Amino acid sequence: MINRQWLLASRPKGSIEDTNFSYKECEVPNRELKPNEILVKNLLFLCAPTMRNWMSPPGNSLYPSIPLGSPIMAPAIAVVIESGSAEYAPGDRVSTRAGWQDYEILSTDLVPVGKIPDEMTSVDAMGKFGLNSLTGYFGMLEVGQPKENDVVVVSGAAGATGSVAAQIARIKGCRVIGIAGGEQKCQWLTEDCQLDGAINYKNRNVEKELRDLCPDGINIYYDNVGGDILQAAIENMAVKGRIVLCGQISSYNDEKPAEGPRNMMRLIYGSITMQGFLTRNYTDNFPSAIGNLKTWYEQGKVLFKQDVREGFENLPLIYRALFDGSNDGVLLVQINSD
Ligand SMILES: NC(=O)c1ccc[n+]([C@@H]2O[C@H](COP(=O)([O-])OP(=O)(O)OC[C@H]3O[C@@H](n4cnc5c(N)ncnc54)[C@H](OP(=O)(O)O)[C@@H]3O)[C@@H](O)[C@H]2O)c1
Repeated sequence: MINRQWLLASRPKGSIEDTNFSYKECEVPNRELKPNEILVKNLLFLCAPTMRNWMSPPGNSLYPSIPLGSPIMAPAIAVVIESGSAEYAPGDRVSTRAGWQDYEILSTDLVPVGKIPDEMTSVDAMGKFGLNSLTGYFGMLEVGQPKENDVVVVSGAAGATGSVAAQIARIKGCRVIGIAGGEQKCQWLTEDCQLDGAINYKNRNVEKELRDLCPDGINIYYDNVGGDILQAAIENMAVKGRIVLCGQISSYNDEKPAEGPRNMMRLIYGSITMQGFLTRNYTDNFPSAIGNLKTWYEQGKVLFKQDVREGFENLPLIYRALFDGSNDGVLLVQINSD
């Protein structure tokens, strides 16, 4: 048995290139497991935008940084092959963080590992009920705190995280406007997800459209992208508005940290709050969140888009779809069958 690996060969400067990755084949790890170690076979990887930040040099102590020459780190679904842990048995499927490789030994003391219920497919565990949906859930409900009739604007609204955040705000009785790149995505948001409006940021003046669509201001702005779109929202916030900082994908390929938003006096005079968060702050509440997402899904109140692609060899190419907007919802790569 061989272990295929995609390693970080060089740190990207700007957009990711083929040369940032190198392919290697090696032996499957074969040593005695220590207590709390498990040997897993990776089945499925989530393409998460923030992995681009992990490819950057170490320096920001709050981010992990993938060492050069190591497998690219990613959220993954894996099956346990051998176990030195009393909690996990061979055959269990787990949600974890793993490297872009077929096999590896994980220490359950060092990486997050959670068992997947038998009745849930690996795709649903990382897709519909996975990290991105949970991010939209906690970011909107816990940080945004939507109230009936609030005006809510979500950027990256047709994506995995944004579409869930926007639909939850709609369920809570808010008036919801999505911002997305392209007419097709905007049409999906208004016709299928039943949002109240959508702005195609690629060919519209977002600041002006927000002023027209939200004449009394925005109560909650859920930001997945940062940059000019964040600025346009800041200019249109209502008094006591809340800005939920979920992600800044528009700057992940930049070599320097993004310029800060301007006009902070609006936040002061408007008593506006801006708060970042990480989904992992809410792990204790994952089971109840998954329960609620399932109920809304079964009732037809939330739609999920899962863009499932195949092939270990295609990982570096597929990953880049996040940055040109060609992913159609949560982007998953199946590398081994369940
Ligand atoms: N805080 C957390 O714990 C947490 C957890 C998960 C994800 N996130 C963040 O949530 C955001 C969405 O992640 P996701 O995994 O759900 O991905 P996604 O939204 O499904 O896919 C990424 C989307 O970003 C948009 N995009 C790419 N480059 C852009 C640019 N320069 N300007 C504006 N939009 C751009 C594209 O959509 P368009 O076609 O609409 O441009 C693309 O489809 C990311 O910022 C991510 O880092 C945060």
